[in-house]
Amino acid sequence: AFKSLQRYYSTTQHIQTVGVIGGGQMGSGIAQVLSQAAKKNVIVVDLNKQVLEKSLAGITSILDKNVAKGKMSDLEKSDILKRLSFSDSLKSLANADFVIEAVIENAEIKCNIFKELDQIVKKEAILATNTSSISITKIAAATKRPQNVIGMHFMNPVPVMKLVEIIPGISTSEETQNITNQLTKDMGKVHTVARDTAGFIANRLLMPYINEACQAVYEGLGTIEDIDTTMKLGCNMPMGPLTLADFIGLDTCLSIMKVLQAELGDKYKPSPLLIRYVEAGKFGKKSNEGFYSYF
Ligand code: CAA
Repeated sequence: AFKSLQRYYSTTQHIQTVGVIGGGQMGSGIAQVLSQAAKKNVIVVDLNKQVLEKSLAGITSILDKNVAKGKMSDLEKSDILKRLSFSDSLKSLANADFVIEAVIENAEIKCNIFKELDQIVKKEAILATNTSSISITKIAAATKRPQNVIGMHFMNPVPVMKLVEIIPGISTSEETQNITNQLTKDMGKVHTVARDTAGFIANRLLMPYINEACQAVYEGLGTIEDIDTTMKLGCNMPMGPLTLADFIGLDTCLSIMKVLQAELGDKYKPSPLLIRYVEAGKFGKKSNEGFYSYF
C-alpha cells in the first residue's frame, strides 16, 4: 500500500539543490529553467572555466531579452541569477539532491562521470542523464545506485521546447521515475516516457529525417536551400532539416546515427556527406560552419 501511495504522492519539496554537469547549450538551458521555473538552487559544473563564463553570459543575455520584452521584471531576473552558481569541480555536488548530466554524447565519458559522481553525491540523490541516444541501463551500471539513475532528455533550445523524454533504465525504481516526472512538471515541461532503446522516441524519428536530408544533398536532389525551403514552407517545419542539423550540431547528429546503426542495423547508416562534414570539422552553428556559414 505504501508503494502505491508513493506513486501518487512523490514530491520534489526535498529537492533544494540541483547539479547540472556541462555548461554548454543544453546544460545552460537546463540550469536556467531549473532556477527560473522550478525555483531550485542550481550548481553548474564544467571543467572548463571559459565554458562556465560563457554559460553565465548566455543565460544573462536571454534573461535581459525577457526583461526588455516586458516578460520578466528586473527582480525576477536577479532572483534567477542568485539561485545559480558555477564550479569547475564535481566535488561541489556532494550535497546536491538531484543531478542532471549534460556533457558531450560519448558513452565512455558519461560512464566515467557517473562512476565518479556516485562516489561524491549523497546516496539518496537521483542522477539523471540528458543523453540523446546512449543506453540509460549502461550508464546506470557504472554506479552502485542504478535504481536512482534515469534518462531526462531535453530538447534544444531548452527554455523554449516544452518536451522532456523520460527514460527509465532496466533497474530504475518507480520512485525515481515519479520524482523525475514531478521535477519535469516543476520546470514547466511536459514529459513522455520512452523505452531504453537507441535514440528513444525523438531521435529515432528525427535523425533518420535529418540524415535523409544530408543524403538528398549528397545525391543532388536539390540545393541546400531548396531542400530546407521545401520542408519549411511545404511541410510547415519550423526550420528546414539542414538548418536544424546545423543547430543541433552535425557531430551530435552523426554520433546519434552511429548509435542507431549499431543497435538497429544499416537502415540507420549515416550519410557519407554527414561523415565528411564532421571529418572537416564543420559541426554547424557551434563551429561557425556547417551546411550554412555563421561567421
Ligand atoms: N534560448 C532561449 N530562447 C530562445 C532561443 C534560445 N536559444 N532561441 C529562440 N528563443 C526564443 C526567442 O527569444 C523567441 O521568444 P519570444 O516568443 O518571447 O520572442 C522565441 O523563442 C521564438 O524565436 P524566434 O522568433 O527568434 O524564432 P523562431 O520562431 O524561428 O523559433 C525556434 C526558434 C524555437 C528554435 C524554432 O525555429 C524551432 O522550434 N525550431 C526547431 C527546434 C527543434 O526541433 N528542436 C529540437 C531539436 S532535437 C533535440 O534537441 C534533441 C536531440 O537530442 C538532438
